[in-house]
Amino acid sequence: MWGGRFGEGPGAIMREINASIPFDKRLWQEDIAGSKAHADMLAANGIISNADNAAIQKGLDAVHAEYQANGVPVDLTLEDIHMVTETRLRTLIGEPAARLHTARSRNDQVATDFRLWVRNATQEIDAGLRAFQLALVARAEEHVGSIMPGFTHLQVAQPVTLGHHLMAYYEMAKRDRSRFADCRSRLNLSPLGAAALAGTSFPIDRAATAAALGFDGPMGNSLDAVSDRDFALEFLTAAAQTALHLSRLAEEMILWASQPFGFIALPDAWSTGSSIMPQKRNPDAAELVRGHAGRIMGCMNSLMITMKGLPLAYSKDMQDDKPPVFEAYDLLALSIAAMTGMVANVTFNTPRMREVADTGFSTATDLADWLVRAFAMPFREAHHVTGSVVKACEARGIGLSDISADDLAAINPMLAGCILPDLSIDGSVASRTSAGGTAPVRVQEAIAAAKKELEA
Ligand code: ARG
Repeated sequence: MWGGRFGEGPGAIMREINASIPFDKRLWQEDIAGSKAHADMLAANGIISNADNAAIQKGLDAVHAEYQANGVPVDLTLEDIHMVTETRLRTLIGEPAARLHTARSRNDQVATDFRLWVRNATQEIDAGLRAFQLALVARAEEHVGSIMPGFTHLQVAQPVTLGHHLMAYYEMAKRDRSRFADCRSRLNLSPLGAAALAGTSFPIDRAATAAALGFDGPMGNSLDAVSDRDFALEFLTAAAQTALHLSRLAEEMILWASQPFGFIALPDAWSTGSSIMPQKRNPDAAELVRGHAGRIMGCMNSLMITMKGLPLAYSKDMQDDKPPVFEAYDLLALSIAAMTGMVANVTFNTPRMREVADTGFSTATDLADWLVRAFAMPFREAHHVTGSVVKACEARGIGLSDISADDLAAINPMLAGCILPDLSIDGSVASRTSAGGTAPVRVQEAIAAAKKELEA
């Protein structure tokens, strides 16, 4: 590749540290597509002959077919996917292959390949997240009216509906999808033609290669074009945030599947047993989704740290951009699929959820709200009075609705002889009709809106 300048080849360890082919072989389709677009452009602008271009196109199609059939050969002496492909092309078609790299550098070549790969990855992740949302919406619809405890501080707070809880994750996935879409829209500019860093003296047409590869246009600055990895970082930050959301759901499933909660049972297909404890049924998939989130965040961190100290333009450190992106993609795609499967197939123990929702004086806020309305009491005072009611009920081991008239009068003379409102969990949930609230009517609306969004 650079034999003209060197007396001897690299040593074995130099070769090994330098080679990226073991991982960048994943870019083979993008690399061939980029080369075909580049060669067409060179011929259209009289930089190579039409005959050479025809040989290059045919040869690259043949290499494509070979890789498809047998995989990409990993030859460390050839360093990377660009050289492996060009070398194979040279073997197949001879001299025209050596003209392909005119007005191009591996620096703009790899930046182009990688952008194309990440562009496709954003689309794959988006499709996965859409399927995840569909699963959430389907289960939410089944449980629009199923009551469960809502928690703050992991203490029973107020009753909510399971449909409402599931739809909270729909919203997170919606934001995640918009982050990937945003990443995709910003990354869709072509580095090709920036050459090594300064551009080229050949009369190339960067708009043509950009269009051929489905980019919106060429990048504006050749130095930036070869040294920018924002697109990979944006992909990784979106991946990390998505993984964070999946991990929170995984954590809830792990808690809910444990005996003290008993809110869900994961089906056999989504559980594992223990080699010693025959009774065990473990939520390993959820635990691994939670675990993978840590690794995905590590990938994001890794590339941030790689990039932060690099002067313009290209440095070989940037070759290390690919493993974290590939790893994060693989882990995230698998995590989304696993979560989708678990959501679709989990059994909700709704009687148990309902039972827990009715503990811990979960409708105390409803009592305070009623005091505000019935006596025009300031909310702070209503909160205080309700606190005293809870304290009295707790001491007597009774529920809020069972408090005696004498106890009420003792707490506040205003309450003497009053008839308490409906403090049931059903009444509580049905009353939360504010926009975005947990009342079944609102959840039903949220589901209808979600279905419309998912069709669009
Ligand atoms: N394999 C290299 C990478 O992934 C390609 C670019 C090599 N450029 C260079 N100047 N050595 O970054």
